[in-house]
Amino acid sequence: MLRCALSLLLGIVGACGSDSQPTTPGQPTLPTQVSADTLPLRTLAIAKGRLVGSAVDRGFRYAGSDGVTFKATLAREFSALTPENDMKHERIHPSQDAYRFEPADSLVAFADANGMKVRGHTLVWHQQLASWLTSGTWTADESKALLVDHVTKVVSHYRGRVIEWDVVNEALADNGSPRAGFWLDHIGRSYIELAFRTARAADPDVALFYNDFNIEGLGPKSDSLYELVKDFQARGVPINGIGLESHFQLGGVPSTLGANIARFAALGLKVHITELDVRMPLPSTAAQLQTQAQNYRDVFATCIQYPACDLVVMWGFTDKESWVPSAFPGWGAALVFDAAYQPKPAYTSLHDLLK
Ligand code: XIL
Repeated sequence: MLRCALSLLLGIVGACGSDSQPTTPGQPTLPTQVSADTLPLRTLAIAKGRLVGSAVDRGFRYAGSDGVTFKATLAREFSALTPENDMKHERIHPSQDAYRFEPADSLVAFADANGMKVRGHTLVWHQQLASWLTSGTWTADESKALLVDHVTKVVSHYRGRVIEWDVVNEALADNGSPRAGFWLDHIGRSYIELAFRTARAADPDVALFYNDFNIEGLGPKSDSLYELVKDFQARGVPINGIGLESHFQLGGVPSTLGANIARFAALGLKVHITELDVRMPLPSTAAQLQTQAQNYRDVFATCIQYPACDLVVMWGFTDKESWVPSAFPGWGAALVFDAAYQPKPAYTSLHDLLK
């Protein structure tokens, strides 16, 4: 079946029919020139009903052969893309009356041209807000109007072009209480539902996600989100999915990831892995790279047990271009291709799992 699906995806005529190699009934075979060993990740994932994505930022704008290799690898291996920064408030809304859509538009156009889906990231967050907003003096009503304007303009612009939005990002502290920041401080906790209701009004079809870190396994923060979702559902506030960021340290994949996916899925939500990386102290060793491979494999193997978990996005794909070394000094090597775009053990382990 897998081979048949792959053949269809690749447009290989005859591989699902009777004119390729001798077959056992019901066991079509691939023509000899195509082997699952050499298929890209996105093709293997599609055969399992999954999209596999990457965040994209500076690498997309590399010049010369680096840029060519970056884009070729991205399009070959991935079926989904998240703008790593270009849809964030400070980039897309640099002054109160001006939106700047072009950089994100170019990523969306690339995705369209290469058969990739786009995750919108992110509408309402306490970080990377434009300074015109954070340095202004606003009443609660003015702040609500600013939130509604921002969400409405951005969601409307990308209507029909993104499959889902991280409507609210990182709104909870580790103990599960609302996280302090511009929107909470100016509006109060109702800003979260205001964002979701506004996004739905601007696009009736797009999936609306809450996205956060340290909610991957069971725990107080994930429990608090679970209660928030149940409250939203009881009151008719639209929400369609949970984004588990999944920025893990080596060996840090929680053992309760599956149980946590299961409980949100049981509420009827999609549960997507949205920002996966597995960082390690530098310099990396062969043993660390093997542990990392097992960690990536564990995340994918757990995810694919649940139909709700049908998209895994990595926070980049090459160690040449990752947020980790600047966000966590001394750490790095967090992705599945090395800085020379060569597949690492983590890539091979995913390949082996999915093929
Ligand atoms: C990070 C980007 O990767 C960096 O380039 C940027 O400087 C800061 O933000 N959680 C999120 C992402 O939801 O938006 C963050 O992305 C990483 C943590």
